[in-house]
Amino acid sequence: MKHIVVLSGAGISAESGIKTFRDADGLWEGHDVMEVASPEGWARNPELVLDFYNKRRRQLLEVEPNLAHKSLKELEQDFKVSIITQNVDNLHERAGSSKVLHLHGELLKVRSSLNEELIYDWQDDVKLGDLAEDNSQLRPHIVWFGEAVPAIEEAIDIVETADILLIIGTSMQVYPASGLINYLPYGKPIYLIDPKRPECSLPPQVHFIEATACNGIGTFLKLVKEE
Ligand SMILES: NC(=O)c1ccc[n+]([C@@H]2O[C@H](COP(=O)([O-])OP(=O)(O)OC[C@H]3O[C@@H](n4cnc5c(N)ncnc54)[C@H](O)[C@@H]3O)[C@@H](O)[C@H]2O)c1
Repeated sequence: MKHIVVLSGAGISAESGIKTFRDADGLWEGHDVMEVASPEGWARNPELVLDFYNKRRRQLLEVEPNLAHKSLKELEQDFKVSIITQNVDNLHERAGSSKVLHLHGELLKVRSSLNEELIYDWQDDVKLGDLAEDNSQLRPHIVWFGEAVPAIEEAIDIVETADILLIIGTSMQVYPASGLINYLPYGKPIYLIDPKRPECSLPPQVHFIEATACNGIGTFLKLVKEE
């Protein structure tokens, strides 16, 4: 079976009703990202940060995977499929995809603010005073801007074994995720689904499908079955 590696970003969940942030002038649900997604923002105003992710978590429980998430699950009938997602939602898992690696953390997990290995499943709001086993304040299990991305080595190993790379709904602005494309073996095809061409320069073998995730996935399926 050929191995399709998918790199997904906020755009794949847009049609489920979760906003991306680059489409809103760099604001994430009305907030400067550095206010709600950086260690400095957390140090300045932990209550605001907790409140922000509490809202995202509540919203996640109300939305559903869309056709693009579901089609990636169906692709597993004919291909080995590995998903590397920058998203913190769980819509790939809820669509049934079996191999999902989260690069930037997960909304439905929290962790100790001192020890990044003390991680807990969490569905409710997190409040100031909710503590981990080490007595530190619980924080969202999210990789914030400026923090290391522990899953990047595993993601590189996955991309190095790809026969086809499919990129969906990412502005390719967030490093190191955007650098993963450089680990694809030489000559392997890249498909990119996005209503807007990313501003970064792309290798010549990129087949750009200018469409939303739900519309573009059908075109991709047709092309890939002809490969
Ligand atoms: N759903 C989520 O989990 C979520 C939502 C917002 C932000 N984030 C976080 O923000 C960071 C942002 O980086 P990013 O590159 O993923 O997102 P981004 O906001 O920087 O870029 C979104 C991309 O999606 C495209 N897009 C918009 N609507 C689309 C649609 N219907 N179908 C397909 N593509 C569409 C845009 O043109 C853009 O290229 C990530 O680290 C991520 O963790 C996550």
